[in-house]
Amino acid sequence: MKYYFAPMEGIGGYIYRNAHAKYFRACDKYFAPFISPTYDTILKTREKEDVAPEHNDTIQLVPQILTNKAEYFLKTADVLMERGYREINLNLGCPSKTVVTKHKGAGFLENPIMLAGFFEELFNEIDKSGRDLKVSVKTRIGLYEEDEAPQIFRVFWDYPITELTVHPRLQEDYYKNKPHMNVFADIVKEAKVPLVYNGDLNSIEDIRSFEQQYPSVPAVMMGRGFYRNPNLLDGEPDRKVLYAFLKELEHNYSEVLPGDKTVLFKLKEIWSYLMEKFTGCEKQWKKIKKSQNLKQYDAVVEELFI
Ligand SMILES: Cc1cc2nc3c(=O)[nH]c(=O)nc-3n(C[C@H](O)[C@H](O)[C@H](O)COP(=O)(O)O)c2cc1C
Repeated sequence: MKYYFAPMEGIGGYIYRNAHAKYFRACDKYFAPFISPTYDTILKTREKEDVAPEHNDTIQLVPQILTNKAEYFLKTADVLMERGYREINLNLGCPSKTVVTKHKGAGFLENPIMLAGFFEELFNEIDKSGRDLKVSVKTRIGLYEEDEAPQIFRVFWDYPITELTVHPRLQEDYYKNKPHMNVFADIVKEAKVPLVYNGDLNSIEDIRSFEQQYPSVPAVMMGRGFYRNPNLLDGEPDRKVLYAFLKELEHNYSEVLPGDKTVLFKLKEIWSYLMEKFTGCEKQWKKIKKSQNLKQYDAVVEELFI
């Protein structure tokens, strides 16, 4: 079984990924948060930094693109290939309204005919040009109803997608409700490309039980589970290691972000997941949320780890 680190816009940047791979069992692949190319900008400064090879030299990174235009995908892929990447992921899962109304992310799933047109153009162009590029996809199962899935997945089976990550939620579920495992089970039966399962694997027990139930699925991807417990693959984290990991994050964010406020913004988001591991520490969580500078923040973290 292969273990992948899910893309997480906001906190899943190179600083977190590198620290994760250094302090805990490294994942087989780390997926970068999406790059959203426009007519005149391929990579924004922050995106350039995030995929810079020198910031990712200890991990296997897969950059991700959010677009519904084969031309933009290829232009962005070319820039990423110059930086050494050979697998690039297409985002068909983002549920955010602003993305969906532009028919991108999960919004692209509304029109399987256009989706097929996108893949037709993309794979023809890759073939014709001889680009050494693998395209993987990360998708939801539809927007509103489970029965949208068969039509969408029929499109996927027609193309040489290198790996298809399935997060079996609908766009309307956002991150709530439960994954639609009945739909996923049907997808497994029909699959014509290697699958990756993603969704709500929050403990090593969840992962083991998934593996037992779906032995033909070769990989799983976890997002929030890793933020709740970065040692997810090996059980409960050692507190000393967790402390060192958090110190490294704080140090590395402080080196690149302007001022305590922006560093704290990141750290508070990370703690919003991690805090679930610290039962009975609601008081400290409130103090973390209220901290105005790193000195105050450091004092609460010390309190939690004594
Ligand atoms: C804050 C946040 C940001 C996310 N950013 C991305 C993203 O950039 N690209 C993407 O494909 N999925 C993104 N996702 C979805 C996750 O990769 C993953 O599919 C989802 O959290 C379900 O998996 P999990 O239950 O293991 O967390 C994001 C999710 C969250 C909560």
